[in-house]
Amino acid sequence: LVIVVDFGGQYNQLIARRVRENHVYCEVYPYQKALAKIKEMQPQGIIFTGGPASVYEDNAPKIEEEVFHLGIPVLGLCYGMQFMAQTLGGKVQSAEMREFGKTPVTVNTSSPLFKGLQEKEIVWMSHTDYVSDIPEGFEIVAYTDNCPVAAMQNPAKKLYAMQYHPEVLHSEHGKEMLHNFLFEVCGCTGTWTMANYAKTAIETIKQTVGDGKVVLALSGGVDSSVAAALISKAVGSQLTCIFVDHGLMRKNEGDEVEAAFQGSGMNFIRVDASERFLSKLAGVSEPERKRKIIGEEFIRVFEDEGRKIGAVDFLAQGTIYPDVIESGAGDAAVIKSHHNVGGLPAVVDFKGLIEPLRNLFKDEVRELGEELGLPDYLVWRQPFPGPGLAIRVMGEITKEKLAILRDADAIFREEIANAGLQRSINQYFAVLTSNRTVGVMGDFRTYDYTLALRGVTTTDFMTADWARIPYDVLDKISSRIVNEVDHINRIVYDITSKPPATIEWE
Ligand code: XMP
Repeated sequence: LVIVVDFGGQYNQLIARRVRENHVYCEVYPYQKALAKIKEMQPQGIIFTGGPASVYEDNAPKIEEEVFHLGIPVLGLCYGMQFMAQTLGGKVQSAEMREFGKTPVTVNTSSPLFKGLQEKEIVWMSHTDYVSDIPEGFEIVAYTDNCPVAAMQNPAKKLYAMQYHPEVLHSEHGKEMLHNFLFEVCGCTGTWTMANYAKTAIETIKQTVGDGKVVLALSGGVDSSVAAALISKAVGSQLTCIFVDHGLMRKNEGDEVEAAFQGSGMNFIRVDASERFLSKLAGVSEPERKRKIIGEEFIRVFEDEGRKIGAVDFLAQGTIYPDVIESGAGDAAVIKSHHNVGGLPAVVDFKGLIEPLRNLFKDEVRELGEELGLPDYLVWRQPFPGPGLAIRVMGEITKEKLAILRDADAIFREEIANAGLQRSINQYFAVLTSNRTVGVMGDFRTYDYTLALRGVTTTDFMTADWARIPYDVLDKISSRIVNEVDHINRIVYDITSKPPATIEWE
């Protein structure tokens, strides 16, 4: 186990993922809580993240100095290095110019951090402050033209630090440097694999559940699907999955979910609630109202089904690690009230919660899904919002509009797959704008809907860039949709990034 101490850096989760890619398990804690966790969990190593603050500011994030005297190896990155230097008696100063971007660095290859690497490396720098004097007992093991201390170490105390960001892929051998810290310095062995994870999780679920009953709300998304597969491997028919089909799924999606889980040993209930949802949504066009109505109706349907099942002992949820990590940096503003099938605990009477994916990142959940033998179309499904197509039909929702959108969206997805782009574009979908414009088809005037296409590349869905889909692919999609789907006579492609736009239109 390695503990990542979060000082509010933008790459905190990336560091954790890089550690886990080495098959070393790690958890992230905000700096305020980290020392207690370190003492309790006795990790093999500690990594400090970067952060936006300056160490000499009044409210600069800090961890107690004791952390350096526990005998556990520490790697400080960026702000983490500056904090280490300042706390142990070195000096940090502000440079006149920021050092930013890919930077050549000279490293001392006799340091365990740089074992197997070249003397000249390229790393990713992003800092204004720098360490000007290293603390006693330390030595400089890397420097750049502008930065006298690009890395430092005190092997006797097992303290190491880098000014640059080895976790960012622009640091060409950053992966190797992190690997060296984990294996050469901390003595990790890299035995954490998804196969082991599955085995242990199944055992734990068995023990927790005993002969109790478990209920899970299945959305058809990756997380709840993998949770369902894992729990059903552990307790079989003691698990009941309720799949509320709100009639706002994409083309064939409901049937695909049913096909994947029917006959898997669990009790699978598909509730066709489309009429209920559509009647509640009739005449509603304001996005937040739609989201609220769908969230509430979801709970009602689930409640009704829950009553039929009777008493249950455990509620299972597909909560994943990014939802659990508390940031060192504080809360963000609410832009949209996200609806998640995770938010259901109050509606059934139960003894405990089961969240078997609580410690996994999305890509690890996918790996686990593959390990458990789930079909590709579930494991690689792109994120789909809880309110479904309701927030992709602008304004008022009707059955007719939903049908148009479903057909157009299916063509878009099919052509993206045909072009082999389905994994390089992280999310892509069609939006029915509900705007009508004049067109001409054959010799006739048309007055039909404008469809918008959206495709984004992103790692965390918090920020995103619009995907550069090749013009010829867009062209094919556009002509197929206009020719094959009635009532669409114009197609536009959304070229805004997030921010300032969001990914979904509502
Ligand atoms: P936005 O539109 O906020 O979307 O940039 C970010 C990501 O979240 C997805 N999304 C949702 N997911 N419930 C969900 O589970 C929701 O209510 C919801 N709304 C948006 C969106 O598809 C994108 O991946």
